[in-house]
Amino acid sequence: MAARTPMTVPAVAARKVRDGADPLVMVTAYDAPGARIADEAGVDMILVGDSLAMVVLGYDDTLQVTIDDMAHHTAAVARAKPSSLIVGDLPWLSYHVSTAETVRNAATLVRAGAQSVKLEGGRKRVPMIEAIVDAEIPVMGHLGLTPQSMHAMGGFKVQARESQAALELVADAKALQHAGCFAIVLEGVPDEVAGMVTDALDVPTIGIGAGVRCDGQVLVSPDLLGIEDRVAPKFVRRYASIKDESVRALGEYAADVRSGAFPSAAESYHLNAEQSEALALYGAEAG
Ligand code: KIV
Repeated sequence: MAARTPMTVPAVAARKVRDGADPLVMVTAYDAPGARIADEAGVDMILVGDSLAMVVLGYDDTLQVTIDDMAHHTAAVARAKPSSLIVGDLPWLSYHVSTAETVRNAATLVRAGAQSVKLEGGRKRVPMIEAIVDAEIPVMGHLGLTPQSMHAMGGFKVQARESQAALELVADAKALQHAGCFAIVLEGVPDEVAGMVTDALDVPTIGIGAGVRCDGQVLVSPDLLGIEDRVAPKFVRRYASIKDESVRALGEYAADVRSGAFPSAAESYHLNAEQSEALALYGAEAG
């Protein structure tokens, strides 16, 4: 495949659909093979999301991953050297304690290979966003259904369903843009509200469960590939059934091993005739 021009933060920041741009495409990846697949598919951005906790590490929520977990997986993605822009997700409690700790944690992801970081929350996160941006690290915002606030929200619930909450969301989005965010993820909000936010901003919005009026879309790769098949949120479209195909393939392999059909002679290494004969002379063939 021909090499693509690497995606940059300024190029993403300028992508507004209302100006005639194509919608941005972002997917998650957590390791080098996942990053290579996303890159070859031509996605604009790879998010090393804290969804890592649930879709890779087996936790029940995203609150369990640490900055070290995120750095470990960001580094694996970066080793694939994708042309897609790498966004590293700051996990819960890595940007809540102090601005100094926040900047250090963002820098940990950059040193691991992220070209930008993402964090969740509205106006109250502005001081942290400004501190990270001040350290020359681009920040992507994340509003609406923010999974790191699951206990405060009372679960994974669609947000901004009422007019006052919708106006608050627009105000949060404007504050994030003013603080220097180059793009904002909108998760789990009504299509109309996502449209209002998108219209109110000069930076792009990237939706997940936020309808078609955003400047781009993001999905969790194991969901869209059908690797994670335990839950099927309404907003996920499955483009493949990789788990089913993998279970079938491993089942066939197990049957072939048990029946002796694997490995075949063609899948085995063999001595040449001379060496084989020499071993026979020494009686080695008997065993
Ligand atoms: O962690 C993640 O995968 C995310 C996306 C759902 C946007 O934050």
